[in-house]
Formats: sequence, structure tokens, C-alpha cells
Amino acid sequence: MSDTSHPPAAHVRKLADGNQIPVLGLGVWQVPNGPDCVNAVRWALELGYRHIDTAQAYGNEESVGQGLKESGVPRAEVFITTKFYPGSKDPAAEAQRSLERLGVDYVDLYIIHWPQRGPTWAWSGMERAHARGYARSIGVSNFSVAELDQVREVATIEPVVDQVQFSPFEYRRALLSAAEERGVAVEGYSPLGTGRHLSNKTVRALATRVGRTPAQVLLRWGLQHDLIVLPKSTHRDRIAENADIFDFELSERDMSELDDLDRSHGTERAREGKWW
Ligand code: A2P
Repeated sequence: MSDTSHPPAAHVRKLADGNQIPVLGLGVWQVPNGPDCVNAVRWALELGYRHIDTAQAYGNEESVGQGLKESGVPRAEVFITTKFYPGSKDPAAEAQRSLERLGVDYVDLYIIHWPQRGPTWAWSGMERAHARGYARSIGVSNFSVAELDQVREVATIEPVVDQVQFSPFEYRRALLSAAEERGVAVEGYSPLGTGRHLSNKTVRALATRVGRTPAQVLLRWGLQHDLIVLPKSTHRDRIAENADIFDFELSERDMSELDDLDRSHGTERAREGKWW
């Protein structure tokens, strides 16, 4: 058994603003508000996760807060992210509403969910949320390098995170290296391709070769590329499986075999298509 006071799933890295973020987080996109979400969050925290990623648009912040409370893990030990829904007007006012739904005094990270109506208009409101203490770190999601640079031009407080879809099949090499140059940590959402990549032949063969599951191989690939990975599951056994990625290493050969699965052409774009 690992030391439960410092579970491996709580491994952290430092953001550019000095705050620490656990490199594994539970994603709860598409988990309805209610018992499934409460249980997933509680199980994750019981299993050693210390990072939960939700959003105003997911509609499940109450359940995230409930799961946190039921887990008994102190608030201060958990990194909570929520995202500003850019169909709303005021990021600071919406952050305050998120805090009420979550039942917490602050979130660790608050990010613009996508660059709807342009990348820059919401940033001053994000800074206001930060100044008022609603959010300890602020950042963006679904922003390309060009959009990230536009934000940085107007920023007093620079974004420290860009959360984008990322996996070997969406290996946004140019975005990752540009973000790194700018001191922006990349968080990968849908690291399992919302489940689709788990049945890929190459991934499965590699998993068999290294004695791990396809999910573990995909997540480990992300960690070895310095991503923060945010797998989603509502099943306890899978939540546990997805956290068991800190005691093995993929070789250079394994990594490059996975790198070669990229279909994004190493893009610096965050999305192939927009939904907004
Ligand atoms: P479920 O929530 O029913 O467990 P992503 O993180 O890329 O969005 O992928 C999430 C999808 O992958 C969900 O459908 C989830 O199903 C499934 N999933 C998550 N972890 C595992 C796992 N370890 N093994 C198999 N499927 C998984």
C-alpha cells in the first residue's frame, strides 16, 4: 500500500504563478448532477485523487461539492477547477455562483471554457475573480496559440493553464511546445478519446506488451509529455485503474509508437472544429 497521506495520485507540478496542481484529475464532463457524480468524486478522493475538474456548463457543481464533503478529505487538500461558461457575461459574478454551488470559498483554478465571442473580452473579469479571491489561478481552455497570445497581450495576470483535447491521436505538438515556452501548463481533456482510443489496435498491443491497461498507457503517455491528465469515469474500479499510473514508465520506443498515432499533424490549434 502507498502512504495514504501522500497518495501517488496526488503528484503535483508547479504552475507559473507558484500554485501547485496535481497532474492527475478526475474529469466529470457529461456526468449528470446527482448520485453518479457525487459517488465518482467521493470514490476518486477516497482512492487518492486530489484534483477534480468541473465546469459551469456541466451543471454538476453541486454534486462535486457534495462528493467533496462526503469524502471527508479536507478542502485545502483538494484542487478544484471550474470553468467560466462564456455564454454568460460576468466571469467574477459567475465564479461567485460556482462557489455557492460547490460549497467552497475559492476554486483553485478558473478557466474560460472556450473563446466564444473572441479570446480577450472575458479576461478582465477572470482577473477580477482572481483579485476577489474566488480563484487562486486563472487560465483558458480550447484556446489556440494565437488566441493564447491575444490574451497574454491584454493580461495583467497571465493565464497559467490551457486545457485542450489531448491524446496520442490529438498530439498537438506545436501547441504544447508554444504553451511551454510561455509558461502555460497544458491540461489534456478526453485523454482516452472519450473511450474511443481504448480499443485502438496499437494502444492495445502496446498495453499488453508493457503489462498495463490501454487506459493506463494513454494516461502515462500524457504524463511523460508533461501534461496534466483529466480522465473521466463513473466506475470505481476504472477510477482506481486510471490512478495507477505512477509506478511505471513508457520507453522511448513506446512513446514514439504512440506519438505516431497523431492525426492532428502536430497542430497548434486547440480544436479541429468549433461547437460555439
Ligand atoms: P465510464 O464513465 O462509464 O467508466 P475520456 O476521459 O477520454 O473522456 O474518456 C471517458 C470514457 O472512457 C468514459 O466513457 C468512461 O466510461 C470510459 N473509461 C474511463 N476510464 C476507463 C477505463 N479505465 N477503462 C475503460 N473505459 C474507461
